[in-house]
Amino acid sequence: MEQQFIPNGLTASTEKGKVTWQTPSNIALVKYWGKREPQLPENTSISFTLSNCHTTTSLSFEKKQTPSDDFVFEVIFEGEKKEAFKPKIQTFFKRVATYLPFLKDYEFVIESSNSFPHSSGIASSASGMSAIALCLMSLEKELNPTLTETYFYQKASFLARLGSGSACRSVKGELVVWGNHPEIQESSDLYGVEFTDVVDSVFKNYQDTILLIDKGEKQVSSTVGHGLMHGHPFAPQRFAQAQENITNIKQIFAQGAIDDFIQLVESEALTLHAMMMTSQPYFILMKPNTLEVINKIWEFRNGTGSKVCFTLDAGANVHVLYPEHEKESVQQFITNELAVYCKNGEFIHDQVGMGAKKIEK
Ligand code: PMV
Repeated sequence: MEQQFIPNGLTASTEKGKVTWQTPSNIALVKYWGKREPQLPENTSISFTLSNCHTTTSLSFEKKQTPSDDFVFEVIFEGEKKEAFKPKIQTFFKRVATYLPFLKDYEFVIESSNSFPHSSGIASSASGMSAIALCLMSLEKELNPTLTETYFYQKASFLARLGSGSACRSVKGELVVWGNHPEIQESSDLYGVEFTDVVDSVFKNYQDTILLIDKGEKQVSSTVGHGLMHGHPFAPQRFAQAQENITNIKQIFAQGAIDDFIQLVESEALTLHAMMMTSQPYFILMKPNTLEVINKIWEFRNGTGSKVCFTLDAGANVHVLYPEHEKESVQQFITNELAVYCKNGEFIHDQVGMGAKKIEK
């Protein structure tokens, strides 16, 4: 299957150039937690693509004067040379070299910046890795102008996945599914696909306000967390539950069943953290203020009949999800009652977006 991404017709050539992509972050509704080599998910996941939280990456490339058998690149993050980011890119280049045989023919400069504050706890690996993957696909497209659009985006997602699993859901579409599932057409463990089934209008332009509860470095990386699902006593049940939740959420989207949506999404978030708390070794990424916020959201929902709910990723931050028609009231509630639980009162209003954009000069 992976064979389809090994190019066999690089007919054109290019000496130098520069391409730029802007790619979004995403927030999973049914969570991916647990993987096997090479970066394949143990269960299917689905996410909303975000809009305001994004990474912009430019890739400058120039043909090497003298051929060499290594990867030559510089990384510049928010205007500064970043040696610390190089090992991650080096590992990524090694992983994708079979699929991008031209990588060793060029010298690269990768310049990247985020729209959200660095180490805000917002996963930058999803938007970061999908941006590099798309830039590399733009280079491949120059070397093979006959590439189809479908292949371009599918392979971009495939490459992004090899950088960071959830990054494959940050390429194209408002709702993206990653992982083989019998009820999602074309779904694959190798790349993300747009969710193209019926979605009720209540889920259009869904809003996500990210509360920055704790901005420090995570104590446990997601790589370690995924690893702890191997031999986890509840892993088989968890993976089966996620597969069922994909079936359920498909119905929920079709029927506009927002109460069921709330129940499924909050349960997924707490289950993700329950897996962390029941790993060996166990760990807790939520902070006291994460729980304060959850309780406030429940109180507000019970008191007002609002359809606001929360989800979490692998950290202390809370994503507050709500339909567009509640934007005013929920944002007021956030300012009045939730901002006090955020570090320096910081939060980011976001909403569902379409996916990556190529920035033309
Ligand atoms: O892509 P990774 O390896 O950083 O894993 C992300 C895992 C979660 O954000 C917790 C869940 C998900 O599906 O995005």
